Amino acid sequence: MNVSDAIKQRRSVRAYLDKPVAPQLIEKIFQQAQDSPSNCNTQPWHVVVVSGEARDRLEKAMVADILSGKPPTPYFTPGDQGLKDEYRKRQIDCAVALYGAMNIKKEDKQKRQELMVQNWQFFGAPHAAFFSMPKTMSEINAVDMGIYLQSIMLLLTENGLSSCPQGALAMYPDAVHEMTNVPEGHAIMFGLSFGYAKDDAVINSFDVGREELSTSVTFYS
Ligand SMILES: Cc1cc2nc3c(=O)[nH]c(=O)nc-3n(C[C@H](O)[C@H](O)[C@H](O)COP(=O)(O)O)c2cc1C
Repeated sequence: MNVSDAIKQRRSVRAYLDKPVAPQLIEKIFQQAQDSPSNCNTQPWHVVVVSGEARDRLEKAMVADILSGKPPTPYFTPGDQGLKDEYRKRQIDCAVALYGAMNIKKEDKQKRQELMVQNWQFFGAPHAAFFSMPKTMSEINAVDMGIYLQSIMLLLTENGLSSCPQGALAMYPDAVHEMTNVPEGHAIMFGLSFGYAKDDAVINSFDVGREELSTSVTFYS
C-alpha cells in the first residue's frame, strides 16, 4: 500500500472485531512511528498502550468516573471549545452523520449518552493508546503530536488495521495516571482506539466527507 492509498483508506472506525493484534506488530508500528518529525527533534510524545486486562481495568475505571457524574478534567483545551461559523457547522454535520447512521434522534438524550460513553469503552477495540506530552509545552509541540498520531494511523492502515483518534480519552485522565506510567509532568492530549474493524457494523458505514480543496488551499504563482 502506498501513502496515497493509506490516506484515502483511513477512516475513524467505531466498532471492532474481538480479535487482538499481535504484540510484535503493535511494537513494530510504534517503532516505525518514532521516525516522525518534530520541532527541533524534541519528540514530545509519550504513549501508553493498553491491551487485555489493563485495557479492561481502565475502561471500567473511566466509565465509572463518567457515570458517577464526575466532571471532566482535560489538561489541554478540548478542540471543540469556542467553535464558530463554518467550524461549528462542520462539527454539527459530523455529529448528525454519526447519529443519523445509528438512527438516533437529536432529542433521544439517553441513546446519545450511550453512544458518547462508547468513547471510553474504546468502541470495543482490543487496544487503546494514550498520548501525553509535557504540560509546559505549547501549540508547536501539539503539531508534533498530531504528525506522530497520523504516522501511527497510516501505519495501522497499511497493516490492515483501523483506529479512532479520540480527544474524549483526555477528558477523564485520573485513572490513566493511576494505572500507567504517564511521566510526571505530562498531560494526556488524546487517545487512539485500534484493532481490526468490524466492517459490517452500521456505525462504520458513514463517511463525513471533506470540503472542496479551494476552501482550504490557495495557490499563487
Ligand atoms: C484530534 C482528534 C480528536 C478526535 N476525537 C474524537 C472523539 O473523541 N470521538 C470520536 O468518536 N471521534 C473523534 N475524532 C474523529 C473525528 O470525528 C474524525 O477524524 C472526523 O470526523 C473525520 O472523519 P474520518 O476520521 O473518518 O475521516 C477525533 C479526531 C481527531 C483528529
